[in-house]
Amino acid sequence: GKEKELIRDSWESLGKNKVPHGIVMFTRLFELDPTLLTLFNYKTNCGVVPECLSSPEFLEHVTKVMVVIDAAVNHLDDLDSLEDFLLNLGRKHQAVGVKTQSFTVVGEALLYMLQCSLGTGYTAALRQAWLNMYTVVVAAMTRGWAK
Ligand code: HEM
Repeated sequence: GKEKELIRDSWESLGKNKVPHGIVMFTRLFELDPTLLTLFNYKTNCGVVPECLSSPEFLEHVTKVMVVIDAAVNHLDDLDSLEDFLLNLGRKHQAVGVKTQSFTVVGEALLYMLQCSLGTGYTAALRQAWLNMYTVVVAAMTRGWAK
């Protein structure tokens, strides 16, 4: 449908430049909630966000996140097939101390990145399409918190 088309078209170029766009997203995330920085145990000598984001481990995580988004975009027709992977991914995030509420802030950071990159292409319909896909991904990850 129209939603999938909006997501696929907008990801076409973004997905080819995962790291720079991921950096915009995570810079925004840590601006919105600096306490999330403390959950990365490899954060050494990182007093300020820009320094953290240039560390190899951070860039690796940024890449990992973008690869998951890439997988979701590529599986828009069968997001269910990612269910087990995302549930496990949720478990891993519970283990490192992430709270499910933080995914709301991650969503805001994702939308911010899209807005920055797409400019006038960032329409209400596009925003809603991405939010819907993100909600499905986060719902699956959140099931990893269930006892
Ligand atoms: C792993 C933190 C959001 C994807 C990790 C790790 C930490 C972490 C500490 C383990 C160390 C590492 O692999 O770098 C966070 C925090 C987040 C967040 C604080 C924001 C609240 C996300 C999101 C995604 C994601 C939204 C994807 C949708 C991954 C992946 C791994 C990972 C794929 C590797 C898991 C594995 O080892 O199998 N994350 N993360 N993270 N994260 Fe995140």
